[in-house]
Amino acid sequence: MKILVATEKPFAPVAIRQIREVIEAAGFSIELLENYRKQEELAGAVSDADALIVRSDMVTSAVLDAAKQLKIVVRAGAGYDNLDLKACSEHNVIAMNTPGQNSNAVAELVFELVLFQIRGGFTGKTGTELRGKTIGLHAFGNVGKYVADIAKGFGMDIYAYDPFVSERVMKNNNAKQCMNVEELYRKCQYVSIHMPLNERTVKSVGYDLLRQMPPNACLINTARKEVIDEEGLLKAFEERSDISYLADVAPDCKAIFAEKYKGRYIFTEKKMGAQTEESNINAGVAAARQIVDYFKTGNQKYRLNK
Ligand code: 3PG
Repeated sequence: MKILVATEKPFAPVAIRQIREVIEAAGFSIELLENYRKQEELAGAVSDADALIVRSDMVTSAVLDAAKQLKIVVRAGAGYDNLDLKACSEHNVIAMNTPGQNSNAVAELVFELVLFQIRGGFTGKTGTELRGKTIGLHAFGNVGKYVADIAKGFGMDIYAYDPFVSERVMKNNNAKQCMNVEELYRKCQYVSIHMPLNERTVKSVGYDLLRQMPPNACLINTARKEVIDEEGLLKAFEERSDISYLADVAPDCKAIFAEKYKGRYIFTEKKMGAQTEESNINAGVAAARQIVDYFKTGNQKYRLNK
């Protein structure tokens, strides 16, 4: 049984060691394809694999066509917008993710971005503090809960909006429920986005929400760049000089930011929310275990496709 770990953005070596241990202890073999640049390389490497572990790597119909032996693909991470689930089903491939495993790393990145921004990039410029400020969590899943936890430590006033999460769960995690998304953006100086990318969320944050935010508003996006309506974002930036945008990774319109909005944004070079040794270990080992478990016992707990 061959398990291919294909990562255009590799796991830390310490994570690979642990992933290898899980796979080899089960009597399976592991092959690595790291830092590859072309989809054809993935298609070539997966041709005789029985299982595939990926991160944000695109698993398309073309990749699945080439994967003649593939039974299961596991996205080592939460967001699975890179997996073509319909094509997986058509190719009789089970698709899974590893929810929650890298959430803390993403939540910490939120504050790493915010602190750097509000202390003026550590240049000696007078900054501001977080204690007593409002933070809104746009979606309250695994990452949102970790952000709330950290925000509590900073003494922030925490709000959340998530149509799929009850007020009780929010309250248990120190967040006050907003009844609609407008209320969240109206109330909170800081809004941190934690929703998945899908047809309902694509371009769902734009001018109408941003214009309602309080003075010195700061939007933090460690989800997907596509959830932002970039035209609306630019319009809000044009109208208000007090808004900042901190994102993991840069929007398509980053050249306009570089030209016009210096000091009001931070964009990571490459998506790095989950780029810690700990989250690489958590997500990578979970993916390996889920594959082993599936082959040994048939467990399909984290299956995403029908
Ligand atoms: C996720 O959805 O789990 C994160 O965005 C991590 O993505 P990555 O594995 O490409 O870093």
